[in-house]
Amino acid sequence: MLVKELSIRIQKEARDGKFQVATTIVFCLSISFLVLVLGMIINDHFKKFVLYEDLSLSSLNAFPPLFSSSLSSPHPCIEQCNSSKTINGLKEWSSPSDLWHSMTDEELMWRASMVPRIVEYPFNRTPKVAFLFLTRGRLPLAPLWEMFFKGHQGLFSIYLHTLPEFTYEPSELSVFYKRRIPSKLVQWGRATMIDAERRLLANALLDFTNERFVLLSETCIPLFNFSTIYNYLLNSNQSFLSTFDDPRPIGRGRYNTRMGPTITLSDWRKGSQWFEANRELALAIVSDVTYYPVFRNHCMPPCYMDEHYLPTLVTKVCPNLTSNRTVTWTDWSGGGSHPTMFKRNDVTIGFLDKIRNGFNCTYNGEMSSICHLFARKFHPNTLLPLVKIAPKLLGFNP
Ligand SMILES: *[C@@H]1O[C@H](CO)[C@@H](O)[C@H](O)[C@H]1NC(C)=O
Ligand SMILES: *[C@@H]1O[C@H](CO)[C@@H](O)[C@H](O)[C@H]1NC(C)=O
Ligand SMILES: *[C@@H]1O[C@H](CO)[C@@H](O)[C@H](O)[C@H]1NC(C)=O
Ligand SMILES: *[C@@H]1O[C@H](CO)[C@@H](O)[C@H](O)[C@H]1NC(C)=O
Ligand SMILES: *[C@@H]1O[C@H](CO)[C@@H](O)[C@H](O)[C@H]1NC(C)=O
Ligand SMILES: *[C@@H]1O[C@H](CO)[C@@H](O)[C@H](O)[C@H]1NC(C)=O
Repeated sequence: MLVKELSIRIQKEARDGKFQVATTIVFCLSISFLVLVLGMIINDHFKKFVLYEDLSLSSLNAFPPLFSSSLSSPHPCIEQCNSSKTINGLKEWSSPSDLWHSMTDEELMWRASMVPRIVEYPFNRTPKVAFLFLTRGRLPLAPLWEMFFKGHQGLFSIYLHTLPEFTYEPSELSVFYKRRIPSKLVQWGRATMIDAERRLLANALLDFTNERFVLLSETCIPLFNFSTIYNYLLNSNQSFLSTFDDPRPIGRGRYNTRMGPTITLSDWRKGSQWFEANRELALAIVSDVTYYPVFRNHCMPPCYMDEHYLPTLVTKVCPNLTSNRTVTWTDWSGGGSHPTMFKRNDVTIGFLDKIRNGFNCTYNGEMSSICHLFARKFHPNTLLPLVKIAPKLLGFNP
């Protein structure tokens, strides 16, 4: 009887066991099905995500035409796509090495006007001085500038605005190698001159490591060695853009009442074309869409836009950014509408020393005898005497 009862119980348990096994199998099957369905859903989302990533990457690569050297090709990256030129990280984007691009001026100004809202840079930023040269062709005094820049790589960048048809490229060893920007024809005293200055500033602003911007002509020379000029500019809490109110006919007399009410006579300023700007001021200049059209339409010779536009703009928009003086010395003492052009025999140590130390001005709120860092205008035939005395006088590396 006990055995019978036991066998019945075993049979029952076995039946229950079967039932349990069955339920377990069903349960497992439904779990796997669920996992499968979930997997498919996730996979689908992932695919979409990857697809978007691809899209955003390719559009990012295509975005700056800066990396395309072809003006005609509609797609910047079809034939000459070069992997070393695509943007894999921040460096090539924040400090582009290739200056050539096919942007219009309007596109360039817009892009250059951008300011990061995160103030701190996510990389080690050594501030550079951008030297912006307005020149027709080759710089006649280039050998002097080569001496000036020698040994200071990483602390400066050079931009050349030339005649559009000028295509000469110096040797790869030159600091001027591949530093030309896309340029247009410039007429002295006209709006096209300001366009060239804005083009230089905008191209230099694309490099986020440029902190100070100096405009120079092909007849300019440096008056001190690189480190002195670099420190003078980097340590200054103001820019050097000259602006003053000239009551004479060659000042206020050039104001046109049709510029009102945007620009009034009391806003009207005059100043030297040769400015130095910090990043903030450079941004203000390329971003101006209010005053520039008024000048372009109403300031024509004998109103010279390069003598009035920037001084007036800065006084209106950001007067505290400039010290109101220029660091580029020019000799107007001869009178007339053109400054003195110095020739070979004028170049002596005594002459240059007078420009270097013969003035008084304020620098960061204190008196200083160093007021000029550059001088003009120097004839191409001054090159030889300048190169000869430069090592001694300016402390260049000979
Ligand atoms: C890509 O560019 C680099 C440097 O700019 C150059 O050395 C290289 O030859 C280029 N490659 C091609 C395939 O054009
Ligand atoms: C500009 O400087 C003057 C003094 O030179 C000061 O009174 C004024 O508040 C400053 N303005 C701005 C916007 O910083
Ligand atoms: C420069 O001149 C403007 C007015 O033209 C003035 O507001 C500003 O304070 C001056 N800056 C210095 C440093 O003198
Ligand atoms: C500059 O200031 C110094 C000291 O105040 C004075 O001796 C010198 O004559 C001044 N130089 C000029 C060119 O005004
Ligand atoms: C520049 O620095 C000097 C000296 O610290 C100070 O007196 C002056 O107000 C500063 N100017 C500006 C515009 O910050
Ligand atoms: C640059 O000139 C300054 C002063 O004139 C001098 O103290 C310094 O040693 C010079 N630097 C170089 C690198 O020659």
